[in-house]
Amino acid sequence: MPTTDGTDTGRLRRYWDKHAPAYDRQMQFFDRHLFGDSRAWVCSQATGDVLEVAIGTGRNLAFYPEGVRLTGIDLSPAMLDIARRRVRQLGRTVDLSEGDAHALAFPDASFDTVVCTFSLCAIPDERQAIAEMRRVLRPGGRLLLADHIVSSSWLARAGQRLLELVTIPLGGEHFRRRPLEHVHALGFEIQRQERFKLGIVERLAARKPAASSA
Ligand SMILES: C[S@@+](CC[C@H](N)C(=O)[O-])C[C@H]1O[C@@H](n2cnc3c(N)ncnc32)[C@H](O)[C@@H]1O
Repeated sequence: MPTTDGTDTGRLRRYWDKHAPAYDRQMQFFDRHLFGDSRAWVCSQATGDVLEVAIGTGRNLAFYPEGVRLTGIDLSPAMLDIARRRVRQLGRTVDLSEGDAHALAFPDASFDTVVCTFSLCAIPDERQAIAEMRRVLRPGGRLLLADHIVSSSWLARAGQRLLELVTIPLGGEHFRRRPLEHVHALGFEIQRQERFKLGIVERLAARKPAASSA
């Protein structure tokens, strides 16, 4: 199935299936040295019925408060297999299934919180994905994001531009995106925003207005 920007979804799924076994080892490095406490920052603000989009291997699972009802989707069955193992190890109940962030298989206004971490850099059409997150959020519901974004330093931006020459054709990984702009344009109220590490990491808490349409 092609995505809205023409990228081949099957090819991306195979990419993430192939990289699933090495993902946790690689991500551990970035969690420790670049992303800081972003997983705890995001998950601690989740309440009620929570959807995590592109949940990957479930690296956020341990950070959710007890009592949230968690649903997770991802494009890659191999990433989801690892997430299922984590769910069992943690003794939690999580509804995990295969799904595409561009067209979420949930009715309008079904969740109190939508979470997405370090995936809007990898989802082909990030604006469409954020529009879908907005659709499935209840009015007044909260969007929680963390990702690596375009740096505020020109030198780092030059490096990111070079990196993308390799990473976009290889696995669809973008380094110069800014989800905040789409979140703002889609009518969310930004409640909290933090940016650090040369402006490369940004995390957001935003609210879907209570009076808005789906
Ligand atoms: C860099 S990993 C991040 C995983 C996880 N969110 C984390 O914080 O560690 C990117 C994830 O996005 C998923 N992904 C990419 N495109 C997707 C799409 N269109 N729909 C759903 N998941 C997608 C990949 O399968 C992969 O698991």
